[in-house]
Amino acid sequence: MDGKLYKVVVGKKIINDFSYVLHVFSPINHQIIGSIPRVRTKEQIEIIFKNAKLAFHEYRNVDFHIRKKWLLNFCDLLKQKWDELSNIIVWEIAKTKVEAIKEIDRSIEYIKLTIEEYEKIMKSPLIIDESVHNVKGKTGIFTYEPLGVVLAISPFNYPLNLLVSKIAPALISGNTVVYKPATQGSCVGSFISLLLYEAGFKNGEVSCIIGKGSEIGDFIIDNPNISMISFTGSSDVGKKIAMKNSLIPVILELGGKDAAIVLKDANLKLSAKKIVKGAFSFNGQRCTGIKRVLVDVSVEQKLIKYIDEEIEKLTIGSAIKGNFDITEMIDIKTLKNNLYLLLDAYKNGARTNQKIKRKGNILFPVALHNVTTKCKIAWDEQFGPVLPIISFNEIEQAIDICNKSQYGLQTSIFTSNIKLAKKIASTLDVVTININESSSRGPDIFPFGGIKDSGKGMQGIKEAIISMNKIKGVIENE
Ligand code: NAP
Ligand code: G3P
Repeated sequence: MDGKLYKVVVGKKIINDFSYVLHVFSPINHQIIGSIPRVRTKEQIEIIFKNAKLAFHEYRNVDFHIRKKWLLNFCDLLKQKWDELSNIIVWEIAKTKVEAIKEIDRSIEYIKLTIEEYEKIMKSPLIIDESVHNVKGKTGIFTYEPLGVVLAISPFNYPLNLLVSKIAPALISGNTVVYKPATQGSCVGSFISLLLYEAGFKNGEVSCIIGKGSEIGDFIIDNPNISMISFTGSSDVGKKIAMKNSLIPVILELGGKDAAIVLKDANLKLSAKKIVKGAFSFNGQRCTGIKRVLVDVSVEQKLIKYIDEEIEKLTIGSAIKGNFDITEMIDIKTLKNNLYLLLDAYKNGARTNQKIKRKGNILFPVALHNVTTKCKIAWDEQFGPVLPIISFNEIEQAIDICNKSQYGLQTSIFTSNIKLAKKIASTLDVVTININESSSRGPDIFPFGGIKDSGKGMQGIKEAIISMNKIKGVIENE
């Protein structure tokens, strides 16, 4: 793919001035794949938010059926452009074509479900009156209203889906949106800004800000015209956002260190299969990836054998060349951090049966055994294809290791004793527990979120809509 010039929609304008651009480099060949007009100054950002606020006063009155029609038009355009869009995803983040297409399909489904859910919510306002609630002489009718300008900031790993899952609930509710895609995701972000425009959002409802978070982030997250922030990304950036925005709603979906707890009565072969899929999908670059295994010592060796067999089956190659399980990592920095964590674990006595190997941005998958809680990889989020395995004697030890984590996203428990799994679930400081399955965000209709350093507030179709609305109560008094 040649370097391409991407225009971008900012409010009512399609920006095609390429005198100051963000160059996006592919993790596949390190060549420029896209150049996009970027935002230069704090003043420019202030104007974008001001205009988004002005547009909100108009858009909030646009009939729901029109908002719905524009979002459905957007779905049609995503469907029509699937080939071009999936190629951009492949080159921009080294996701395989098959996975990129899945991400597009999932995003279309997400938008449609969001529309359906919004209709349901709006059709049933909360009515509190004397007959039901013994409230004397009053009838309260509580409905939802949009908040204003929603700021959406997304990470690289689902460059389409994690934008759409913020933009769709915001727009269907009557908010306007300013969004900043990850640098590695900016070609997707600008591409869809034009699709949104073509779909009908051409009156300032949508603005896409292009630029590096490290350079313009502080200007974006601190603006009086923002009514709500929905952020997905690392815990460090999430905390910064939370600190600067104490008076508006902020939803944060952050890092994770999800464990797979394997009990001695688990179906070990099947557990290994699911764990390897959970740990190595998209090279481990998922917040919900399995990032450590805690296994009962009596079945440790058997599980390691099965995990090694599953790793052996993983196919490895460039994302551009086929549907490989392991492809290029997003950048050398993350790859090197994985090597650093591997080395630290080795120094602390961990071992692996795989060869530690690297080819360009591809890091070959590794399971580490003999890992102890002294190793950094027992605690740090690796976001790469390295899986530490820690053994325990008593389940209490496993629970303790889980709960000592700074993160609190999800945990998996593999066992044939469902009653015990539920009992363990009740002791874990995470939001979601998966019995006999690896962690995941989907199905998207499920509430999804994290606690501790993994986040604040909930996503999920319904929860995202509610987070982008405020309750309006009208009370009739007799
Ligand atoms: P990241 O570095 O935190 O970046 C996320 C977004 O924040 C990007 O758009 C980035 O822009 C922007 N950003 C960076 N610095 C900023 C600042 N000072 N102010 C405002 N915005 C700023 O995360 P990532 O590397 O893309 O994604 C990996 C992390 O996200 C992992 O920790 C992963 O677990 C987490 N994640 C969590 C979930 C979840 O749902 N819980 C889902 C996916 C990923 P630039 O790209 O331009 O720097
Ligand atoms: O890291 C992105 C997060 O949203 C995970 O989604 O569907 O891979 O579990 P999923």
